[in-house]
Amino acid sequence: MVLFVKRVGIIGGGIMGSQIADIMAINGKEVIIRDVSEEFTKGAMETVNRNLDELVKFHATRAEKEIERIENKDEIQLSDEQKEKIKNVLKPKFNQESKTETVARISTTTNIEDFNDVDLVIEAVVENIEIKKKVFNDLDTHTPKHAILATNTSSLSITEIAASTKRPEKVIGIHFFNPPVSLPLVEIIPGTETSEETVNDVIDYVSTLRNHRYPMQPIKVKEVPGFLVNRILFAMMNEAFSCYDQGVASMRDIDLAMRAGAGMPMGPFELADLVGIDVIYNVQNEVREMIGGNTMNQPSQTLRKLYHAGRYGKKSKRGFYDYR
Ligand code: NAI
Repeated sequence: MVLFVKRVGIIGGGIMGSQIADIMAINGKEVIIRDVSEEFTKGAMETVNRNLDELVKFHATRAEKEIERIENKDEIQLSDEQKEKIKNVLKPKFNQESKTETVARISTTTNIEDFNDVDLVIEAVVENIEIKKKVFNDLDTHTPKHAILATNTSSLSITEIAASTKRPEKVIGIHFFNPPVSLPLVEIIPGTETSEETVNDVIDYVSTLRNHRYPMQPIKVKEVPGFLVNRILFAMMNEAFSCYDQGVASMRDIDLAMRAGAGMPMGPFELADLVGIDVIYNVQNEVREMIGGNTMNQPSQTLRKLYHAGRYGKKSKRGFYDYR
């Protein structure tokens, strides 16, 4: 069967839910976001609007930035004709009009019963197994029988989440990366009961999506703690946190080291603040509990303190760095 998706339901309109909604709507899908209260659904729409405004700005200024880059870096004075050519090649592919059309495809609700006509659901609520199991149990009752139920979890067991439904063959992990408008990778994680048909349908479907720059790139990953990218990335981040805890270098210098010395676009502390200290703390605990071995064996004291102080990173205006 080829998965036909007209309407996508998103559960949880936080950092990831609102951005996944953007991607789906940019790709012409109708999207409905559910969150726990109107305050949160309003917040989700504000984030959607803000993300899309940034996209419009990115496209509007792209050609000018490229001209500036060539002239500054290569010390070349471009002719007017050359500038025009660059402007033509890099003319905005996403403008104010596209934004208006995209936003019009997204609606919100606090009521799960409004998911009675979705074809695909992507759940992006907090990283807590009991909350996710309850959400999937409700989804099983309130979505059409054909709908695929996916979770964006960073670490929790797809099999365990699927067991809270009567359709485990249609439950799967679709793990986007933050921010999905720039990062095209999507990990597709089957649980023990997920059918081959669901896996193939989802991989085929995700391959048809684009963010504003690239086609999305699905990869199939076995259900193991942390999946693939986070297993590698979080171990590196934890090592950076330990270096800081041990006074090896300052936070800013560790970030600089990994940018200027290891070619990372962002340092580990900057990345942690973007992803969310709560997400990292919970994922690390989850992975540590499941693996039990050496990976991320030494929890960082600084990370633990920030988590308990509610300093979750950019979203709470303070994390490792201060954004107030
Ligand atoms: P967040 O804390 O920004 O957003 C969670 C949202 O879910 C909030 O708006 C909250 O009100 C809502 N929510 C909680 N319970 C709900 C319920 N029962 N029904 C409807 N909405 C509910 O979290 P974030 O960072 O977006 O993470 C969501 C999921 O995505 C987690 O599983 C996380 O591990 C995963 N993830 C996070 C990434 C990141 O960089 N933050 C990257 C990739 C995956």
